[in-house]
Amino acid sequence: MTKKNILAPFKKIRVKASLFVLLLLVATALAFSLITLRIMNRRVLDEVIKRAETLCRSTASTAGYTLISQDLLGLDNIVYRIKTSSPDIVSMAIVNLDGKILAHSDTKRTGEPFRPAAGSLLRKAEDGTTIVEIPGPVRGLIEVRTPVVFLEKPLGSVVLAVNKAVLVEAQKEARNRILEVFGLLLLVGVASSVLLTSVLTKPVRELSAGVAELKEGKRRRPLHVYSQDELGRLTESFNDMTALITAQKDTLSRYAQDLEEAYVSTVRVLAAAIDARDTYTLGHSTRVAQLSLEFGRDFGLDTAQLEELEIACLFHDVGKIKIPDSILLKKDKLDTPEQREMMRHTEYGTEILSKASSLLKYIPAVRHHHEWYDGTGYPDGLSGKKIPLTAAIISLADMYDAVTSDRPYRHALSAEEAQAEIARLAGKQFDPELAARFVDLLKRRRPIPSLGLDNSE
Ligand SMILES: [Fe+2]
Repeated sequence: MTKKNILAPFKKIRVKASLFVLLLLVATALAFSLITLRIMNRRVLDEVIKRAETLCRSTASTAGYTLISQDLLGLDNIVYRIKTSSPDIVSMAIVNLDGKILAHSDTKRTGEPFRPAAGSLLRKAEDGTTIVEIPGPVRGLIEVRTPVVFLEKPLGSVVLAVNKAVLVEAQKEARNRILEVFGLLLLVGVASSVLLTSVLTKPVRELSAGVAELKEGKRRRPLHVYSQDELGRLTESFNDMTALITAQKDTLSRYAQDLEEAYVSTVRVLAAAIDARDTYTLGHSTRVAQLSLEFGRDFGLDTAQLEELEIACLFHDVGKIKIPDSILLKKDKLDTPEQREMMRHTEYGTEILSKASSLLKYIPAVRHHHEWYDGTGYPDGLSGKKIPLTAAIISLADMYDAVTSDRPYRHALSAEEAQAEIARLAGKQFDPELAARFVDLLKRRRPIPSLGLDNSE
């Protein structure tokens, strides 16, 4: 797949808008999730600290009497009771003022000097309670230390360490819940954005299709106006423009038709005027046009081709306008230089038609209607299928009309004789297939009455 094909969908407004909404949705959902997680972490941590603080303070208040009475067993009992009350408690110790551990949840450490763990102090309360956060490889700990005071006399302190496992569990649960909500939100968001952009861009798509149809000349009906906003007003303007263009196009089409009819009439008059220079060629172009059209229809040409063929027939000898009367109207047979000059009427015709761009399309037929299938014709010596079809058809009709008309130096051939002559020249002067079909048509048709004399070239 080429780069152009890959990028093609991204050139659509619908896709661009969907992607934009999607990105916005993902960014919002991510930011929302992160903020929620942070707030929740804070809350859970506060809760863990609060619980540890309460537990530590209550232990300190109950341990005062036991401590002053040096009841080590009682202190062990307190530590054991608190330690087993919650699985989150990692360790608990009661330390005297000298820093010696009097009781510890890990009984082996009883009697050892207490070494405070390194961590960051989160808070220090008015009663001297300190809260330290100790970073750990996996979870980390919160250590709370509360002074033991009995009758306003400081006796030591209670040290409680709780892990943040509960925080990790809460985080895990919250993350899963957030992911579920995030996924659902994303799914709904994608569907909504696709639906929304599809609805919003529908008028734009129809407008775009309308412009394309208008460009190709197919659109005539107005587009549906979906709303009264900017797009709606744009669609209304487009409809007004379409109506205006359609009306102007119809008017132009009528003018073009009138012009075409006037043009064809002019060509007919011109052809008749050329033929009328010589009494022998009177009506020749019209008869060639009739016969060519008949053959063209029989051959299966479409309407446009037939129209072009008819005009080309009327024009086929237009170049004779430049042939001097001394040659064109000569009663005797032409000598070689005269024949050469007469043959130049195809080139003169080309020159005349090349003056107007609208007539250029008739040049192939006019220039080559004296080419021979075997390549011995003029002016370019074209052969076989290189001879344009219109020229080949005119060549047959021209020859038939010429030989079936009287000339000063010979009588007209009969229809049968002319057909035999065409058949004889098939493969030499004429395309064999066309010649066969032409003769076949001549045999089937009623002969057009000849107007008389002809001196066609
Ligand atoms: Fe001719």
